[in-house]
Amino acid sequence: MILVVGSKGMLGQELMQVFGDAARGVDLDDIDITDLASVQRVLLTLKPRIVINAAAYTDVDGCQAEVEKAMQVNGEGVAYLALTTKEIGAKLVQVSTDYIFDGKKGSPYVEDDLASPLSIYGESKLAGEMNAWFNPDHLIVRTQWLYGHGGKNFVETMLKLAGERSELSVVDDQTGSPTWAYDLALAIKALLDKGCGGTYHAANAGFVSWNGFAKEIFRLAGIADIKVNPMSTAELNRPAPRPLYSTLDCSKLAQDTGFALQPWQQALERYLELRPAR
Ligand SMILES: NC(=O)c1ccc[n+]([C@@H]2O[C@H](COP(=O)([O-])OP(=O)(O)OC[C@H]3O[C@@H](n4cnc5c(N)ncnc54)[C@H](OP(=O)(O)O)[C@@H]3O)[C@@H](O)[C@H]2O)c1
Repeated sequence: MILVVGSKGMLGQELMQVFGDAARGVDLDDIDITDLASVQRVLLTLKPRIVINAAAYTDVDGCQAEVEKAMQVNGEGVAYLALTTKEIGAKLVQVSTDYIFDGKKGSPYVEDDLASPLSIYGESKLAGEMNAWFNPDHLIVRTQWLYGHGGKNFVETMLKLAGERSELSVVDDQTGSPTWAYDLALAIKALLDKGCGGTYHAANAGFVSWNGFAKEIFRLAGIADIKVNPMSTAELNRPAPRPLYSTLDCSKLAQDTGFALQPWQQALERYLELRPAR
C-alpha cells in the first residue's frame, strides 16, 4: 500500500486520484508529522510499502514569520517520516521546491546545482530534503508553481479577481514553470514505477512570468475584459524573498522514466476544461 501523507492538500488530492485503490490517505486529523509518536503510531499500524509526503507548511510568507513552525513541519517532520519509514522498510518520497535555489543561475537548475535558499520556507524545505536522507531508500521530487483542483492557488485567485476587478497588476520579473499538480502526481507515479531513488526535478515544460501566466489564464478562460499590468517583485514587497529565475531542468526525469510533463499551456488548458466537473 502507498500512504499519502497530506492527502487533503492540493497535491495530496491529485496523488489520491492517480494512485486510486493502491493508495491510502492521511492528513492532520490522523497524523501530525511534527510528532514522532504520531508518525510511529500511524506507520507501524498501517505498514505501507511507500510513503509519499505531500504534507507541508506551504504559506511562503507565513513561514517567514513562523520560523519554528516552518522548521518543525517542513524539516523535522521529514526526519520523523524518514526514520520511521526506514524502521519499517518502506520508501519515502519527499516533495520539495525550486525555492531551495536563489534563482541567480540564469538557466534551468539541474538536480546537482548548489542549493541557496532565500527564504525561511526554502531553508525549511532544504532541511526536509536533507532529513529525507535518514532513509537511504528515498526519492526527492522538486517542483514549482503548483496549481490543482481543490487547492488555494494562483489560477483560482486570478479567476476570482477577474470577477471583481477590471484591472490587475501582476509580477513580471519572476520566471518559472506553472505546474499542474495532477501532472506532478503522474511524474511521481512514473518514478515509482521505475523504482527510481535520489533527487529529480518535475515541472510542466516551458516557462513564463506570473504576469504572462495570468494573461494565459484569462485568454484560455475567455475573459477578455481585464487589463493585466506589469509589476516588479520590489513593488509587491512581500515578506519572503523569491527567486527571480528558478526553472527546473527535468531531463533526468525524462531519461530515467521516459515520462515528460506536457507544456504548461496544455496542462492549464486541460485543468480549466476539467475545472467545473471537479
Ligand atoms: N504549492 C506550490 O506552489 C508548491 C511549489 C513547490 C513545491 N511544493 C511542495 O509540494 C508539496 C505539496 O504542496 P501543496 O501546495 O499541495 O500543499 P497544501 O495544499 O498546503 O497541503 C499540505 C497538506 O499538509 C497538511 N499538513 C500541514 N501540517 C501538517 C502536519 N504537521 N502533519 C500532517 N499534515 C500536515 C495540511 O493540512 P492543513 O491544510 O490543515 O494545514 C494540508 O492538507 C509540499 O511539499 C510543498 O512544499 C508546493
